[in-house]
Amino acid sequence: MTTAIIGTGRIGSVIARQLASGGETVRLSSADRESARALAAQIGPAAVVAAGNHDALQGADAVVLALRFAVLKSVITEIADRLAGKLVVVPSNPLGMDAQGNISRLLPEGQSSGKVIAGWLPAGARLAMAFGTLPADVFEAASNRSPEPAVLFYATDDDRAGEEVERLIRTAGFEPVKAGGIEQSSRLEVGGDLHELVVGPAQARSLIGGA
Ligand SMILES: NC(=O)c1ccc[n+]([C@@H]2O[C@H](COP(=O)([O-])OP(=O)(O)OC[C@H]3O[C@@H](n4cnc5c(N)ncnc54)[C@H](OP(=O)(O)O)[C@@H]3O)[C@@H](O)[C@H]2O)c1
Repeated sequence: MTTAIIGTGRIGSVIARQLASGGETVRLSSADRESARALAAQIGPAAVVAAGNHDALQGADAVVLALRFAVLKSVITEIADRLAGKLVVVPSNPLGMDAQGNISRLLPEGQSSGKVIAGWLPAGARLAMAFGTLPADVFEAASNRSPEPAVLFYATDDDRAGEEVERLIRTAGFEPVKAGGIEQSSRLEVGGDLHELVVGPAQARSLIGGA
């Protein structure tokens, strides 16, 4: 199957590599196309460089928006007419950096980023918050772990999105565990209790119940 990956920076490039090594075709797009081109050259025939964000969705079953939170809304607007009927996967943390390099949450405390992003999507798009719980280097190191796979948590309100994102998580070499509905995305983000955890399925399920 085919997944568009918009944003080929630190997390997008690792997601693309892991999906491609699991057999997925990836269509890549970045701001200036250079990082998408370099990544595609590294991945090989399983990767296609798209002509732009809109073109990345051509023939894709799903899209991963591996973008900083501040640009998500404008990219969603740009590709909105291609999102109906598609799984939209968002790994973004709702963080921003000021001119002094201070990092802060861009949403009020307690506001779910998943709910906010759901409000930006057109009707018919199916949202899952996923692939953002582990730092890129940890993600790469933990994929295809043996004998017990590492877990990637996800959150969604949509059963079909859940099935689709579980397939992508397995393709990337992890075991999927649902944290809950989209309002639970704050558990997945930086500062959340499920963020940056490399755990197996049994421990993951006990953590879900223990919140
Ligand atoms: N880095 C991590 O370890 C990590 C882990 C988990 C979650 N996350 C979350 O994932 C998100 C991305 O983080 P990151 O570290 O991967 O950021 P990053 O390295 O800065 O990469 C951002 C990517 O977005 C692309 N981009 C920017 N504006 C765009 C536009 N208008 N259209 C298409 N592509 C555009 C950039 O293109 P160019 O390459 O052309 O500049 C770049 O490839 C953040 O919200 C972060 O919180 C990151």
